Amino acid sequence: MTASEIRNSFIEFFKNKGHTFVPSESLLPSSPNLLFTNAGMNQFVPYFLGARTPAYSRAVNSQKCIRAGGKHNDLEDVGFDTYHHTFFEMLGNWSFGDYFKKEAIEWAWELLTKVWGFPKERLYVTVYKPSPGDPDKFDQEAYDIWKNILKKENVDPNVHIVNGNRKDNFWMMGDTGPCGPCTEIHIDLTEKGDTKGSLVNMSSPYCIEIWNLVFIQFNAETDGTFKPLTNKHVDTGMGFERVAGIIATTKNFTDFSGIPSNYNSDLFTDIFAKLEKLSGHMYRKTMPSSLDNMSKQERIDCSFRVLADHIRTLCFSIADGILPGNEGRNYVLRRILRRAILWGQHLELPEGFFAELIDCVINKMSGFFPELKTQRTLIHKVIESEEKSFERTLDRGLQLLDKIAAKNKTISGQDAFTLYDTYGFPIDLTQLIAKEKHLNLDIDGFNKAMEEQREKARSAQKKSVITVSEEKDQKPATQFVGFDAANLVDYETIITKIINTQGKTYLVFDKTPFYATMGGQIGDQGILYLDAETKLKIIDTIKDEFGHILHQLENTIDESLMGKKVKISVYENRRRQIQRNHTATHLLHWALREHLGTHVKQAGSLVDDKKLRFDFSHYQALTHKQLEDIEYDVNQAILKNSPVRWYEVPFKDKPENCIAFFGEKYGSIVRIVDIGGFSLELCGGTHVQATGEIGLLKIISETAIAAGTRRIEAVVGQEALNLLQSQSHSLYRISNALSCKPNEIETRIETLLEQKAEHEKELRKLQQKHLASLEEDILKLAQPYDNLQWLITETNIPNINDLRGLAVNLSNKLGPSVIIFISSIEDKILTLVLCSQEAIKKGYHAGNIVSDLSIQLGGKGGGKPDFAMGGAKNSGQVTEVLKGFKPYLQKV
Ligand code: SER
Repeated sequence: MTASEIRNSFIEFFKNKGHTFVPSESLLPSSPNLLFTNAGMNQFVPYFLGARTPAYSRAVNSQKCIRAGGKHNDLEDVGFDTYHHTFFEMLGNWSFGDYFKKEAIEWAWELLTKVWGFPKERLYVTVYKPSPGDPDKFDQEAYDIWKNILKKENVDPNVHIVNGNRKDNFWMMGDTGPCGPCTEIHIDLTEKGDTKGSLVNMSSPYCIEIWNLVFIQFNAETDGTFKPLTNKHVDTGMGFERVAGIIATTKNFTDFSGIPSNYNSDLFTDIFAKLEKLSGHMYRKTMPSSLDNMSKQERIDCSFRVLADHIRTLCFSIADGILPGNEGRNYVLRRILRRAILWGQHLELPEGFFAELIDCVINKMSGFFPELKTQRTLIHKVIESEEKSFERTLDRGLQLLDKIAAKNKTISGQDAFTLYDTYGFPIDLTQLIAKEKHLNLDIDGFNKAMEEQREKARSAQKKSVITVSEEKDQKPATQFVGFDAANLVDYETIITKIINTQGKTYLVFDKTPFYATMGGQIGDQGILYLDAETKLKIIDTIKDEFGHILHQLENTIDESLMGKKVKISVYENRRRQIQRNHTATHLLHWALREHLGTHVKQAGSLVDDKKLRFDFSHYQALTHKQLEDIEYDVNQAILKNSPVRWYEVPFKDKPENCIAFFGEKYGSIVRIVDIGGFSLELCGGTHVQATGEIGLLKIISETAIAAGTRRIEAVVGQEALNLLQSQSHSLYRISNALSCKPNEIETRIETLLEQKAEHEKELRKLQQKHLASLEEDILKLAQPYDNLQWLITETNIPNINDLRGLAVNLSNKLGPSVIIFISSIEDKILTLVLCSQEAIKKGYHAGNIVSDLSIQLGGKGGGKPDFAMGGAKNSGQVTEVLKGFKPYLQKV
């Protein structure tokens, strides 16, 4: 059976038992506390918890999973063994409050032994046996079901049922969530198949787990307790690559002499073939006997496995919109990609090799996962650009490591940090190399350097931390009333706190329309009216960690004013301009996703009253046309003058299409901002009432701020108008200077450039002519000395190439000679010396002459025996130096 036949057979088997086929969910998890979708059960969690009712009570699927980072992390094992992957498929059958242990176990046995032909005497099953303090009790029910089946099949239950501990037989998705005891099926792959269960759970490639049947009965709560669920469910997970590998290695269970490996299945054949072609090395299926001391072939074979695994992870995650980046799951991907590039070094692969593997994955897998084909271009672009950007620094980083290795036995924390910060080496990559080179790594020193950098970044982020925390219990968070435009001016409130700290004065009011700096939007400024005569300026607004809004005053005030009733006004125009920028940021985000794809994700933003800045994930610079189109679409949305709405809902009820990225911190109640039906985002900021208020958006720049992260800056409203007016003013002045109309400027400049090129050509011709006549004149200055022709002269040729050309021509004409030119060009002096072979034989040395001359001229220079150059500042000493030159000649 091929891998694809195995997958189909699994799905068909369970469909025939009343299961509905459910497609794989995205690798971007639906669960907020996961890095990646890491198990088939992730998408079904709400069904297990009873939060949603499924349309079916039995399901079958093949789920894309990544286990790298987080609770289930297999990254470090990949390559070194034959059965761990960062990306893999998990085949599963599911019961949502329907059948339970009996059916699940009986069907598993039936599929494996009756349909696929697994030899029953090679199968071992485990059942849960807790230790004191572990959840739940011995799984007698599963034990009895297995005992019954095995007895009927003449397989000894006393040998083939093995007890398993909490680690192996109590399955949890993460620290919290649905969980329960499980029974696992393992296969003995030794040649004789007579290990009698001794290798079960011993991390041996000769006895591996192929199927995990989990009986979901509890929810692990945050306080560490296990709450029984109302209904009981079945969640099974079969390692697709493992089963495909076993069937391929044993040639449908007919030959157990080979080393079992997932990589023997046809899932990897094309990738290996491509790697063999690219590298000229053969994959020989060896396994490292010791990780510290691998043979060349073992290292080559590890590289094959690492690359084959990692390219699949990258292709599948990019297809699901998860791109390599600097944080969280995106950084995990970048590390995986860089790990692959590094392993590629063992195969001496050419630059750009990793991207060459993409099509092998797409062609093999897109029949079942069509998203790979749809996203082919994106996958190529992202991997190519990531690979290129890492290759640029990889060699230099490796050289640095070699230098360290030549001197020390330990990579210091600071060096590891430089490798990380300057050369983009994730720390686990440095660890990997350190291990290979038998070096120690000062990981504590590295962590310290990282912490120092974070500290620097934190203190560079201006705000000093001001808090009214001691008041936390008495004074709840300040109520913000500034979403309503009617509250912005002359708002009556009470001073509840005056804080004098670090030379600054902050006021807290019981309610305020002043927006505090948050989510990229800067804080409001305005006026405080103490009474009819006394006005004070509020120059900034910030929030402390307990939600108190702090208003910074320009001047200090008397503490006796505590409790006073006052009026406060936000600078309305400034606030309006900030709001325009904020709403425009949402529209820009929307248009970027429309034009570039949904992988575009906000990576930071700043909106103030002057401009907006929006950082986002994207793998390459935007073209001028793309920027124009994006700007055009945002302005179309502005012209529509569509209403902007905001409302609050519980997080779980937020609309499906609302942009919210897991990993961000959201409370249980979230605020949804709907920009005229164009964009729907979770946001706590203030916005215009209708898009038309923005007036106009003009993009000023698009730049890279890190690998895979771009930045757009733009202006809106009055600032956009100012910009356009100043640009049109420049055009007006240019057209005046060029004596043409503004719309003729382009043609006029083209003509001027053509004329300029013509003039330069003419000038060059004249210069050549001048040089030719100069050559004749200079030649006459040659004097014989020591059987050589000596040409020592001052020139004023400004072009270094011309000077060199002239010297070479003269030397050809003079034959055995020494030519010494000193050219004064404005404030500089250029010295050039040419010695013919005959001169060199006599002991003259162009480099030495230049160096001696340069010292006399107060500059420096030198070079080879036949040709040398030097430079100095021109302080009028050339003639003097040349005058004293004859005696110098005698000295040479
Ligand atoms: N949830 C179990 C696992 O991931 C079985 O699907 O192993």
